[in-house]
Amino acid sequence: MRKKIIAGNWKMNKTPEEAQKLVEELKALVNTDKVDVVFCPPFVCLPGVIEAVKGTHIAVGAQNIHFEESGAYTGEVSAEMLKNLGVKYVILGHSERREYFHETDEIVNKKVLKALEHDLIPIICVGESLKQREQGITIDLVRLQTKIALKDVPADKAKELVIAYEPIWAIGTGKTATAEQAEEVCKAIREVVAEIYDQTVADAIRIQYGGSVNAGNAKELFEMPNIDGGLVGGASLKIDFSKIVNYND
Ligand code: PGA
Repeated sequence: MRKKIIAGNWKMNKTPEEAQKLVEELKALVNTDKVDVVFCPPFVCLPGVIEAVKGTHIAVGAQNIHFEESGAYTGEVSAEMLKNLGVKYVILGHSERREYFHETDEIVNKKVLKALEHDLIPIICVGESLKQREQGITIDLVRLQTKIALKDVPADKAKELVIAYEPIWAIGTGKTATAEQAEEVCKAIREVVAEIYDQTVADAIRIQYGGSVNAGNAKELFEMPNIDGGLVGGASLKIDFSKIVNYND
């Protein structure tokens, strides 16, 4: 049985002070071991959030890394630095990074490999634009994104990682994919993982849905057989996140 994983992607929101406040408000409400709970605040909030969740079940993730080990990359942050800080997960290839920072599938793959080298668990984001959905190429595109992201990732590492299916048209728009639409693509992702590796890896890997997940739609989405939780943006900044985490209570 795969354990659900519900991660909050705070994006570029919250000062360190505000982050502290949010964690204090949320922590008791989301401190559960029934699902894996992850907070992904901005880099500068990581030390404070890591400190604040000590002694709870809550894990902390970053939103990006650089794909090189270290060196002359002004403004970048490495996997090793994050690992040293106590970060456990890292969101990679989010559509906002692909769109605004020109991250290609190849770059995402390099980041996945670097994260794994330092024992960070990647949350790899894939997903189509509205135009691509209308063109009927969603499954082809997501299969390709998944294949390239996982290139050279060994099976034992692949088992551990997380893939987030995030249709771009559903991100921050309030437009959620229906549970059936989300399930169809998450199932296709699991199938491509089985093709690359085998059924054991496909059965182990966790696939989230992301895109306007909220307290009202979480349960229906997370109950689908191939959806193992959610990557939550807007609603992760509010007390509502606790309702998403506790969707089954
Ligand atoms: P949203 O963002 O929940 O605000 O749609 C999800 C995401 O971008 O990960």
